[in-house]
Amino acid sequence: MNFKTILFSIFFISLGISKSAAQEVPLLKTSLVGSRIVEFVPKGFDKSKTPSLILSSEPKSKGKMPADWSLIPEFTFKNNKASAVLNLKGEISLYGGGEVTGPLLRNGQSIKLWNTDTGAYSVEGGKRLYQTHPWVMGVRQDGTAFGIIFDSTWKAELITNSDQIIYNSEGALFKVYIIDRKSPQEVIKGLSELTGTIKLPPRWALGYHQCRFSYDSEKRVMEIADNFREKKIPCDVIWMDIDYMQGYRVFTFDSVRFPNPKILNDNLHKKGFRAVYMIDPGVKVDKEYSVYKTGTENDVWVKKNNGQEYHGKVWPGDCAFPDFTNPKSRNWWAGLYKDFLSTGIDGVWNDMNEPAVNDNDFPEDKRLGTMPYDTPHKGGGNLPSGSHLLYHNAYGRLMVEASYDGILKTNSAKRPFLLTRSNLLGGQRYAATWTGDNYAGWDHLKLSVPMSLTLGLSGQPFSGPDIGGFLGDTSGDLWANWLGFGAFMPFARGHACAGTNDKEPWAYGEAIEKTSRIALERRYRLLPYLYTLFYESSKTGLPVMAPVFFADNKDLRLRAEEQAFLLGENLLVVPAFAKNPVLPSGIWEELNLVEGEKEDKYQAKLSIKGGSIIPAGKIIQNAGENSFDPLSLFVCLDKEGKAKGELYLDSGEGFGFQKGDYALMTFSAEKKNNVVIVRVSDTTGKRNIKEEIKEINVNLVLEGKTYKGSGTLKDGISIIVK
Ligand code: GLC
Repeated sequence: MNFKTILFSIFFISLGISKSAAQEVPLLKTSLVGSRIVEFVPKGFDKSKTPSLILSSEPKSKGKMPADWSLIPEFTFKNNKASAVLNLKGEISLYGGGEVTGPLLRNGQSIKLWNTDTGAYSVEGGKRLYQTHPWVMGVRQDGTAFGIIFDSTWKAELITNSDQIIYNSEGALFKVYIIDRKSPQEVIKGLSELTGTIKLPPRWALGYHQCRFSYDSEKRVMEIADNFREKKIPCDVIWMDIDYMQGYRVFTFDSVRFPNPKILNDNLHKKGFRAVYMIDPGVKVDKEYSVYKTGTENDVWVKKNNGQEYHGKVWPGDCAFPDFTNPKSRNWWAGLYKDFLSTGIDGVWNDMNEPAVNDNDFPEDKRLGTMPYDTPHKGGGNLPSGSHLLYHNAYGRLMVEASYDGILKTNSAKRPFLLTRSNLLGGQRYAATWTGDNYAGWDHLKLSVPMSLTLGLSGQPFSGPDIGGFLGDTSGDLWANWLGFGAFMPFARGHACAGTNDKEPWAYGEAIEKTSRIALERRYRLLPYLYTLFYESSKTGLPVMAPVFFADNKDLRLRAEEQAFLLGENLLVVPAFAKNPVLPSGIWEELNLVEGEKEDKYQAKLSIKGGSIIPAGKIIQNAGENSFDPLSLFVCLDKEGKAKGELYLDSGEGFGFQKGDYALMTFSAEKKNNVVIVRVSDTTGKRNIKEEIKEINVNLVLEGKTYKGSGTLKDGISIIVK
């Protein structure tokens, strides 16, 4: 045996050892990086192997890990794959994981973190969806809570056993962040301190959205829009799915069916609608096509290890894919929005950005549904080069960063509205989301509640399902049930797959049309409240739609409730389908907003919390109309006979609010003997609201009765209750 052979043997023996046993990895460093937030860095961590795409900026050390800190992750490394485990003590309710099927309460669940196009959530029994959120929140019996971020985008699985949270990645070591605070709400605020919050959306984005794959001509789009207005069903947005494009080439318009997008968008605007258009990442390989040409000139495409462009099939056939890890590619992509948006497009829908690739012509065991794992990505700027196995879960998130920048640069006086299918924990900074291709069935209708709740508990407050169900035909009964509560979800959009029945509010006959109108009128009356919640969420990261246990973190009965939900803190929504929902105790009074809702079996039941004041507007047909003529306040007193509430308002568009053009009003109510006085107790912001809000109507709900009063902003409003 010569020296060389000895060296080789040692090398192979050590390889053998590292292949079989998982090696415990000691901690290199722990530090306090926020109020009760600790960063854990394992020995051997290398940010050029696991860059952070989750956090909004690199946290700075603020001191040592507190001496009494009990939540400490244990790292292991085996066969070049890093894992972390957090052992749990006591009975803990687990939540999180972002976009998941299954129950709200995540004890005993596991998910795969590998973004996947999963029609009807069918891949791996629904354990693998479009987004990656390596995040778990635990709520202890006493209502205190903690959250754990596994700061990695490598392919992974996340197991939430009642006694152990396990994160197994297929890549290099990563950092872990743990937040340990007095309540789940404070933990979610901590998550947003690390990963950022949503930007305040334009007010119109909180209206109802109507979509279909596809309204496939300008004429059809206007018919849909006109129907909403003629039938007086409130709606803000009409969506253009892929068929508006010329042969599915992104950033183009079909010359026959959409010959004049500028005129179409102008006409929509005149009727108080906004127009959102789809853009996918796959760019048709076509040497005559300007996007492919300039992409090639700028060297933006993902290339294979042999240096050739990677091509995969999507709607237009063979496509090249921008390498969004590279700043130059992102810049080029951002620049494409300029001409596109100049046609008056208001919002953008990024889809298929897992990225989804159709490889159905491959033998079944060779299909990945995306790029091969070893496909290299260039990186650049803060990002190292790395394989698709590292960057796949961040592809959609990097795409929406580029899209967001392009949209903002093009229309710098407007708030971007961007919807994405794929994303990553922290990606709420760039885009809202919907829960992908569900189907028209009762199980997916029910599932849509815990899905959006879980997203809200994972940093993404702006989400909702395809109301009515995307795949398969929808019955009037299913539609009405879904819209009856879907009207109160943060993102409310009806959508339908090609080849399925018409799914607009009037498509199921007169009775369901009426139901739909009532449901949407209720949403539009609540726009002032909803907008206030979005404003708060943009500051704190708290969910807009919250689980019922948020009403009382110590009430263990509420921990698994996933039919009913809260909108903010003060409004409880119980969908018509709910059977024996577990509801919070205390004072909750029925809230009635619209004529006919009580008699309609499909409408969700709404209740207002004792001690709160909910601002509402009048019924309007789109969010651009003045809601506050008059402003309505719904008041429900607590045991002490008091109540308070808030209203945030601004112009609904643009960034004037950042310079003070907003009003944040605080209302209070107090009962003395049999008189309740409601007043504006405080207003901040520079907006002149005297012109906007001239009159206030008060509806005091007390022991099942409603007492009315009205007045102006200046004077308190007195109501006599008997
Ligand atoms: C994907 C989307 C769906 C869209 C369709 C056509 O399936 O998830 O919403 O309608 O593509 O673009």
